[in-house]
Amino acid sequence: MCGIVAYVGRKPAQNVLLEGLRRLEYRGYDSSGICTVDQNHFELRKKTGRINDLATLLRTQPARGMIGIGHTRWATHGAPTDANAHPHLDQSGKLVLVHNGVIENYQQLKERLAAKGHKFLSQTDTEVLAHLIGEHYQPGIPLADAVRHALKEVIGTYGIAVMHADQPGIIVGARRGSPLLIGVGRNENFLASDVSAIVAHTRRVVYLNDFEVVTLTADDFQVSTLEAASVSPQVKEVEFSAEDADKGKFPHYMLKEIFEQPHVVQNAFRGRISHEESTAKLGGLNLSPAELRAVDRIVFVSCGTALHAGMVGEYLMEELARIPTEWEYASEFRYRNAPVEKHTLVFAISQSGETIDTLAAIRESRRKGHKTLAIVNVVGSTIAREVDGGTYMHAGPEIGVAATKTFTSQLTIMVLLSVLMGRMRHLASTRGEEILEELEHIPAKMERILTQNDAIAKLAKKYSDASSFLFLARQHNYPVALEGALKLKEISYIHAEGYPAAEMKHGPIALIEPRTPSVFICPKNSVYEKTMANIEEVKARKGPVIAIATEGDTEIAGKADDVIYIPETLEILEPLLTVVPLQVLSYHIALQRGCDVDKPRNLAKSVTVE
Ligand code: AGP
Repeated sequence: MCGIVAYVGRKPAQNVLLEGLRRLEYRGYDSSGICTVDQNHFELRKKTGRINDLATLLRTQPARGMIGIGHTRWATHGAPTDANAHPHLDQSGKLVLVHNGVIENYQQLKERLAAKGHKFLSQTDTEVLAHLIGEHYQPGIPLADAVRHALKEVIGTYGIAVMHADQPGIIVGARRGSPLLIGVGRNENFLASDVSAIVAHTRRVVYLNDFEVVTLTADDFQVSTLEAASVSPQVKEVEFSAEDADKGKFPHYMLKEIFEQPHVVQNAFRGRISHEESTAKLGGLNLSPAELRAVDRIVFVSCGTALHAGMVGEYLMEELARIPTEWEYASEFRYRNAPVEKHTLVFAISQSGETIDTLAAIRESRRKGHKTLAIVNVVGSTIAREVDGGTYMHAGPEIGVAATKTFTSQLTIMVLLSVLMGRMRHLASTRGEEILEELEHIPAKMERILTQNDAIAKLAKKYSDASSFLFLARQHNYPVALEGALKLKEISYIHAEGYPAAEMKHGPIALIEPRTPSVFICPKNSVYEKTMANIEEVKARKGPVIAIATEGDTEIAGKADDVIYIPETLEILEPLLTVVPLQVLSYHIALQRGCDVDKPRNLAKSVTVE
């Protein structure tokens, strides 16, 4: 997903835009650009590569002016080139625009405009939108009117910031399907696709809704609908600071966020455990006890790491609440038209709250009349605002593209939710209390695992040349095996597959050879013996084995080539601990391979395009 930042105020816009783009770079980073306005003249600078490449350009060719727009791109239409980088100009060269999203009917619009003599310099859908708005622009009419008229012809998603040289001091923003917020400053205002871009300047924000348009000046902002009806927006206070979005003493955001997990898990359960009633207290679900009690099926819809959290949630919900539960790829669920019973609760899991496939699955479920809830990290995000209720993760901004702390945060909330739903049904208070008490010990147990960071770094050296990995586990840890494989894939570019350990015999065992390490999650639990047998099968075929095992297990060291020990915990809470060594191992293997762990190739932090 791309990043947008815009500024109008009394400071040099270039510095604000560049700093904001640096904070957005994790969202998409194959090219970037800014455009400022200096005495009615555009200062347009854009470049393929990272933000540093743009900064180098600006050192020799500064962009002057106290108003401007900026963009960091994750290519959808057209390769990463200088010409395809945003901002884009219209035919007149007096209108400039940056855009997140996909204009699905851009080809038809482009043909119509070309027939009128428009010439295009790029392959992007964004440039077509700039020309379309320019086509509607007339001197003397508000820029927002031209934007509204053009957007009524658009099919697709957009978050945009637009300026016109004839209307200095004004920036127009609009959104549909791609997040856009207003940063409310003193004698200055901002637009951004993500609050981390501007939180250093203001923590007062207004989240725009779909089909809203904003006209921004240094001293004011006016929000209206696409039909020009005025909107009275609510200014909110962001819950984190600029420091939260900094790396601090860590070399990478990903490592910082891995080490934040004990704190993040505490934040997830803080104030949400009732020992008196041996249950969880989740405000914000906005469903009465009777409505929650009436739920007779749950479907978790999500993508990527959040999908794996939903898979763990299936085990937890079915075991603790005895509610038939399924996880679904949001991208499949939205089109599959699955038969869904009346009292089914559709539950989104999304750290960004903007993943388009998850949002679409929620919208499809709401259209069919289902109650929808969500576990979300970003306050005010689109999913958070469109569901009936839910629970915020309070995990702080996750800058590393590879999700780590938000995964264990989601798991923690899954545990709380399952206990809550279970205690409304058959879960005994003693069992509920046992789980909640142990959950409160998880942060300290995570800390113990993290003290092995250096040892795991050494282990990473031993295996970083492998070209393929298998991750194997059973039951609650099977989704963690998938998550471990995803972590390794996305930051080290090594092919990796996660499998249920018993599934090995049905094909994957053909892959076993000395060059292919198998990572087994094999804590002392109800399936320990079975998993040990699978380790034997791999060893018999000379496959190297890395085991995640329980402290004090003296048997596993005789079977596995390498072991990473984790503290003992309840079987249903093991995923909170077993994932940590996998995150750390992937991080160090990626470092060994010289990969950019915070901004892996081809990826973006939040996928708001289909
Ligand atoms: C995980 O490391 C990836 N960054 C990606 O799979 C991510 O989990 C997925 O895109 C879902 O994002 P969300 O939680 O913001 O919806």
